[in-house]
Amino acid sequence: MTLDLQQAARDHLWMHFTRMAAYEDAEVPIIMRGDGCYLEDANGKRYLDALAGLFAVQIGYSYGDEVGRAAHAQLKELPFYTNWSYAHPRAIELAHEVAQLAPGDLNRVFFVSGGSEAVESAWKLARQYHAAHGERRWKAIARRTAYHGTTMGALSINGIAAIKNVFEPLVPETFHVRNTNRYHRPDEETEDEFTAFLLDDLEEAIIAAGPSTVAMVIMEPVQNAGGAFTPPAGYFQGVRAICDEYGILLCADEVITGFGRLGEWFGSTKYDIRPDLVTSAKGLSSAYASIGAVIATDKVFEPFMGQQSMYTHGITFGGHPVQCAIALKNIEIMKREQIVENVRDNGTAFRDTLAQLLDLDIVGDLRGTGYFYALELVKDKETKAGFSDEDSETLLRGFLSPALFERGLICRADDRGDPVVQISPPLIAAQAQFDEMTGILGDVLTEAQERMHVTTRALAGEATREPGTRIP
Ligand SMILES: Cc1ncc(COP(=O)(O)O)c(C=O)c1O
Repeated sequence: MTLDLQQAARDHLWMHFTRMAAYEDAEVPIIMRGDGCYLEDANGKRYLDALAGLFAVQIGYSYGDEVGRAAHAQLKELPFYTNWSYAHPRAIELAHEVAQLAPGDLNRVFFVSGGSEAVESAWKLARQYHAAHGERRWKAIARRTAYHGTTMGALSINGIAAIKNVFEPLVPETFHVRNTNRYHRPDEETEDEFTAFLLDDLEEAIIAAGPSTVAMVIMEPVQNAGGAFTPPAGYFQGVRAICDEYGILLCADEVITGFGRLGEWFGSTKYDIRPDLVTSAKGLSSAYASIGAVIATDKVFEPFMGQQSMYTHGITFGGHPVQCAIALKNIEIMKREQIVENVRDNGTAFRDTLAQLLDLDIVGDLRGTGYFYALELVKDKETKAGFSDEDSETLLRGFLSPALFERGLICRADDRGDPVVQISPPLIAAQAQFDEMTGILGDVLTEAQERMHVTTRALAGEATREPGTRIP
């Protein structure tokens, strides 16, 4: 008897960050297979995956055979051994490879199973690093609206209240500073003034927190949540200088930006961030395996070389040999197929193609770099006014997400900050895919724009007659 996947999904599968009730009467989207930048569902319908899984599948979906052979060979040779007190060839080779690709003296690699674990491990490592120097520092500083994961430490670091509040009390003590969203800053503010404004805010937060108690500042090279916030000129040099002044470790969260998405192996290289720690996951294996890594500089590693010292942390699956074999094969493919070069070569064409969408009234801003973009949606382009919470819900969840999916485009309508559409395709995407996604986005956003005018006016009218009533 073959399993009825729809029914079994409804009965047993608990999907992540998913309103399961939405599928009581609707089909669960079941993705069956992938090739290149495309996916196919259980009904045989094809989708262009403009989100690369979740910002992860750098090489696209067609390398399963080759990666599978590497996994198979590893399973035959050594299906598992741990990195607790032992090494094995694939973990050593992968650590070597990652250290070669990472900038500067980021030479030491600690493997974990994913991005949240990487952030969690980086924060613990920062605390223990300071303890080894006789200092008790525990606080973490991150940016508003930033997403860094879901385990308790990583969750506490997030700058998104809506996904944190229900889990309080969280891990104390985290602080949040301004992010690099320039779209809503005054028009007359120069880039230098913006940088100075952000750096003042960071320094004030550190001073208010008590500089000698702050263990780590953690920031993405380009912040995803809120919509691809790139740094203004001089920003990361300023952040580095402030961290140095107060003896704080700087962690670049490269879970998304690592392994090519910005057109460099690491975003830290692109922006010359010089972090003490890098967290990575997704692209390390193109998500063909669940593996992540914390990468530390020689300076951070140094106190752990004492005769009695160790980093008091470990995870059974960290550095799993099969996962390492898959990640090694992914990097080999990325080099052979010149995946990072593809991003560098096509980045401008990608931006130029997406920029056509700026002609629409509803598209206020296009921002990002490499293969990592977001469109900010606005109610009024002149004033840059956004949507109310209720309108955002109607627009993003009620219309945009299903309409894009219906049209065969997977990207993400996100309202963790101002409403944005996130576009982050596999790094093999080329002009044909840029055109396809821009075409579909153009059609759907044009319709959204028309609907939102109607809905907005109708909602306002409704509210005066009968508060709380919603137009379906
Ligand atoms: C910047 C960043 N850090 C950490 C994470 C958490 O990674 P994971 O979902 O693998 O735990 C994510 C996930 O999207 C992320 O974008």
